Amino acid sequence: MGQAYAVTAEFYDLLQAAEQLGVTERLLDRWLGRPEVGVLDVGAGTGLATARLAARCAVLVHAVEPAAGMRAVLLSRLAGQPDLLARVRVHARGVQELGLRDVADFGWCLNTMAGLDAADRAGALAALAEALVPGGRLVVQRPPAEAADSRRDLPSWRLGGDLYTGEVTTVRTGPRGVRWRFDYRVSRDGALVREASEVFDGHLASEPEFDAELAAAGFTAVAADTPGIVIARRR
Ligand SMILES: C[S@@+](CC[C@H](N)C(=O)[O-])C[C@H]1O[C@@H](n2cnc3c(N)ncnc32)[C@H](O)[C@@H]1O
Repeated sequence: MGQAYAVTAEFYDLLQAAEQLGVTERLLDRWLGRPEVGVLDVGAGTGLATARLAARCAVLVHAVEPAAGMRAVLLSRLAGQPDLLARVRVHARGVQELGLRDVADFGWCLNTMAGLDAADRAGALAALAEALVPGGRLVVQRPPAEAADSRRDLPSWRLGGDLYTGEVTTVRTGPRGVRWRFDYRVSRDGALVREASEVFDGHLASEPEFDAELAAAGFTAVAADTPGIVIARRR
């Protein structure tokens, strides 16, 4: 995990924040409620949701993020804001090694399960169940059930006249595996200034498989939302 997101951390917010924040605000409006124990943000990334959770809640937000590059952006997002700094605690490790018990009544895990294989998903869900109090609510995005070979552009942005673009290429690597290649490019006056790439391996799981994993970890699925969101209750 050490170098993971080392390239992507620079470009994530610029190219993906607008879309991620739209989804985040809509889901929080509907599912956050009013946590009274604490909040978990698992796979917190650059802290887009972490900052929104801390702004909306009076309780401590536990941000779980193993990749140093993503944590650096997360910390920069909080820097200089004493009200947010007081309410976010960062855990610099994978959720499987979280080791927290009964610290939260709301858990949030978006765009993260897709990167974990079945054994790591089981470990992640078990750690989430342990960290949530009985009755706690989990909002989690499923791993993809399917993936076809494809290519798509991320939204592009101009920065001082330079054009920042991103392209995602999806390739199936086997019956259960998928690989996403992110190519980032900076161009000026139509000429390439620099480019960088990062590859992520993903793992597919059908809806019944992921529902069974949730149940095995001690969760009951109670509702669904988009994109691929399950709302589950800690038994
Ligand atoms: C695609 S990013 C999504 C970030 C954020 N949730 C969002 O939606 O903007 C996935 C994040 O999950 C983190 N991650 C990967 N494996 C993890 C694990 N085992 N436990 C916790 N976080 C993990 C990565 O480092 C990365 O920052």
